[in-house]
Amino acid sequence: MKGIILAGGSGTRLHPLTLSVSKQLLPVYDKPMIYYPLSTLMSAGIREILIICLPIDIPLFKKLLGDGSALGCSFSYAEQPEPKGIAEAFIIGKKFIGTDSVCLILGDNIFYGSKLNTLLKSAENPLGGVVFAQQVSNPQRYGVVSFDETGTAVSIQEKPKHPASNFAVCGIYFYDNTVVDVAKQIKPSARNELEISDINAVFLEHKKLQVIELEAGDVWLDTGTIASLSEASQFVETIQHRQGIVIGSPERIAYEEGFINESQLRQLAEQYSLSGYGDCLLKGLKP
Ligand code: G1P
Repeated sequence: MKGIILAGGSGTRLHPLTLSVSKQLLPVYDKPMIYYPLSTLMSAGIREILIICLPIDIPLFKKLLGDGSALGCSFSYAEQPEPKGIAEAFIIGKKFIGTDSVCLILGDNIFYGSKLNTLLKSAENPLGGVVFAQQVSNPQRYGVVSFDETGTAVSIQEKPKHPASNFAVCGIYFYDNTVVDVAKQIKPSARNELEISDINAVFLEHKKLQVIELEAGDVWLDTGTIASLSEASQFVETIQHRQGIVIGSPERIAYEEGFINESQLRQLAEQYSLSGYGDCLLKGLKP
């Protein structure tokens, strides 16, 4: 399975923070935002990852993440010059996806939970699509999924004024290879974007969409507004300090997933001996 991180967009809801810096490079506590979705993909066992961003940001993401080889992965980069929608990622990434299945994650979504890896790994071979949903207090801001009395998903709408439920679709999506053709079929929405919810609606119509409800203890945060960005930073700080662990660290996940060995992790940690991140990476390992 291939992975795509969509890190485009102009981040208008975060201005002036994002006037000259990509939203996904902003800090979420002690790491750049993109580290979190990258770690999530890697913890699902995905090693071949395409990062899609504005043309101007490609050198910056390359400087930060490189070609992935230090983490036992392969990273490549592609441009989304204009914000034409999340679903455009499958058109931009067509060649990269090839004949494989694909997982798309939004560059501003943070996931955390002890059983989440297992859940994500269970979506590895989707027949059609697999998406995740969780109850939120402000469903109008999201793709909203509603269920019938048997718990089967019956509708998906993007940012509805009158949401049919409180269940928002999270920003991580697994599909089989047919998603590339579905992305080519859908038409731009009223705001002139190819909507991910329209892709999901097509899979739903063909009874090929599995919607998995995240458990209440699973944490899903997005960081698109000042308030949610600040909350996410506080959340990471609290968990890391309280539990003495590091979360959202690609280096640490690479080690835990067996993509790199302990001596490679130690080498990576050495680069960060002055910032404290190096110590974070080695938490719990014997000195
Ligand atoms: C996007 C999607 C929406 C999804 C959300 C998750 O919205 O369009 O369906 O629920 O991400 O974060 P955006 O946050 O880009 O407005």
